Formats: sequence, C-alpha cells, structure tokens
Amino acid sequence: MSRRITGFTPSGELHLGNYFGAIKPLVDQQIPDRSIVFVSDLHALTLDHDPAAVRRRTLEFATVLLAAGADPARSIFLVQSHVPEHTELHYLLESATGYGEVRRMIQFKEKSRDSDRVRVSLLTYPVLMAADILLYQAGEVPVGEDQRQHVELARDIAERFNTAYGRVFTVPRMVNPPVAARIMDLSDPTAKMSKSTSVTGSLRLLDSPDTLRRKVMRAVTDPGSAVEYDPENRPGIANLLTILAACTGEDPADAAARSGGYADLKRAVADAVIATTDPIRHRYTELSEDPESVRKIVQDGAIRARLIAGDTVTAAKRAIGLLPA
Ligand code: ADP
Ligand code: TRP
Repeated sequence: MSRRITGFTPSGELHLGNYFGAIKPLVDQQIPDRSIVFVSDLHALTLDHDPAAVRRRTLEFATVLLAAGADPARSIFLVQSHVPEHTELHYLLESATGYGEVRRMIQFKEKSRDSDRVRVSLLTYPVLMAADILLYQAGEVPVGEDQRQHVELARDIAERFNTAYGRVFTVPRMVNPPVAARIMDLSDPTAKMSKSTSVTGSLRLLDSPDTLRRKVMRAVTDPGSAVEYDPENRPGIANLLTILAACTGEDPADAAARSGGYADLKRAVADAVIATTDPIRHRYTELSEDPESVRKIVQDGAIRARLIAGDTVTAAKRAIGLLPA
C-alpha cells in the first residue's frame, strides 16, 4: 500500500473547499507511516508576503489541520521548511524539468498575469511541489481539481527521472473526493472558493456559526426557482447542492430531490455546514490555548519525515551522479 500526502500553503484562511477537496480525503484514511500532512510554508514565499503573517499562519494552519482530524499518531505531520530535504530534492528535480513545462502551468499564468515583479519561485513552485510528493514516495495525492496539473507534472518528472537515471521515485497520481473536488465561491459560482479571494463567498473553517449562516443565506442563486443539480446552467444552486451533499455524504442529485425551494435549501446548507465545522472550531480553540504542544507535534513530525526523506535524497543523488554508484 502506497503513501498518501497532501499540503496546505499558509496564505489566507482555510475554507470548506480545502476541507472537502484535500483535508477530509486525507484524514479519513490515515494509516501509520503511510499518511503525510504538511504545512507548505515555503510555497507562501512565492507571492508578496509579510514574514510575520507567514509565521503566524503556519502555526494557525497546523492547529486547524489538527483540529480537523490530522492525527499525529497515524500521520506524519510536519512543516515543510523544517525538513531541508524538500529544497534539496527541489534542485535535483529542477535539473530534470524543462522551462517550457513550468511556464505553461495555468496557476503560474494566472498568478503572474497582474504582476510585473514575478518571483522565480512562483515559476518553479510546481517543481517544489513535485519534490514534496516524490520525497516521500507517495503514490496518492488527495488534492482539489485545481492542483491536477501540478500532480501531473510531478508524475512526468518522476517518470522522466526514473527513465534517465534509474528507478528512484514512486510515480504519484491525484485522488479526488467523490463530490466537492471543486467548491465554488458563494458570491460568484463561476469562480473557485479560495483562501485569498472574496470574504463573503468563502466559508471559512473558523467562521462563527452566525457568519456561516449569513454567508449561505446571501449566496448567489440562479434565475427561476427549481432546485435541480445542473452545474452547467444553474451553477449557484449546483454549488449549494454540492456543499450540502459533501456535508451529509449523499449525492448532489439526491440532495436536490429532497429540497423544497431556495430558502429551504439554503437553511439546510447552513445547518449542514455549521454541523461540519463546529467541532473543528471548538477543537481549534482548545488546541490554540497550548501552542507549545502544536510546535512539539511538528518537531516530532520533522524528525520522522527526515528518515524517509533522507533515504530518497540519497538515492536521487546517487542516481544523478553526485554520490558513488
Ligand atoms: P486556495 O486555492 O484556497 O488558496 P490551496 O490552493 O492552498 O487553496 O489549496 C489547498 C488544497 O485545497 C488543495 O488540495 C486544493 O486543491 C484544495 N482546494 C482549494 N480550493 C478548493 C475548492 N474550492 N474546492 C475543492 N478543493 C479545493
Ligand atoms: N500546492 C498546493 C496548494 O497550493 C499545496 C501543496 C504543496 C501540496 N505541496 C503539495 C499539495 C504536495 C499536495 C502535495 O494547494
């Protein structure tokens, strides 16, 4: 059985899209020494950033992930920059990646579009992400749909490296949740719910129940009044149904069948979202009273992670010509 890994970049605030797209698929199947969860703090340096905010959010993200069910007894739980092998492997993989491959990444194009000061690290970030995955010989990467292209790049790099230099890496694949691989923004259902954009359209895991209810009740719907699951033509209602179905574990079409009108649906969504996030928020409050214990957990995680990561880097260095064969 292969390893599973997923990471979260400490920028903005974790939301329900992150939860259903990546957190839940990982925490639902934690297997000792096979599951790895990490805060990808190095990735937060790819865009303009405030050092104090990165420091604060790294601890906050670690705390939210623990509150959401990451279990250090069953998963290796770490902060990326505590394990220097991530950047070490990054460089080796850069030497096996084409400029054209990273330049065509959709996220790079989007994030570099409005900036005349694009950091080189924004361009090479998918290679660091590949290093994150390949370092632990992970076969499965639970991420939301927006990360598909990056996991495919990690696959391509692994295959190319293995072919050129000998088999070092497990070739990873993306795993998607059955529903909610892409939750949309409540105020603009054509855009992805995201950490860094719209406050009103994003259901944050630490929002109070009142705030969550208000955001859901104000969600943009579609013309007409029928509650049908039709993402193409009725994106607002389809998104609410996706959220409801993800919370209750049913199919969006079944959720549609048992809903009355729009107001009824919104009430059901608000109740379901609050029921899902309330335990996380409470646990977060408890854990944040003892930040030292969270720091201790990630320190232990880094020690465990380095045992695996060190072996991979040694194998990669040997294969690529930096160590005796
Ligand atoms: P954001 O795009 O909000 O800044 P990240 O890109 O850091 O979030 O995503 C962290 C994880 O959550 C990734 O696996 C990503 O695919 C997943 N994810 C992000 N937004 C959504 C969404 N709206 N629906 C489903 N999964 C999502
Ligand atoms: N790039 C991912 C994001 O922004 C986070 C991430 C970094 C990640 N490294 C990873 C996810 C490795 C899965 C595996 O959402």
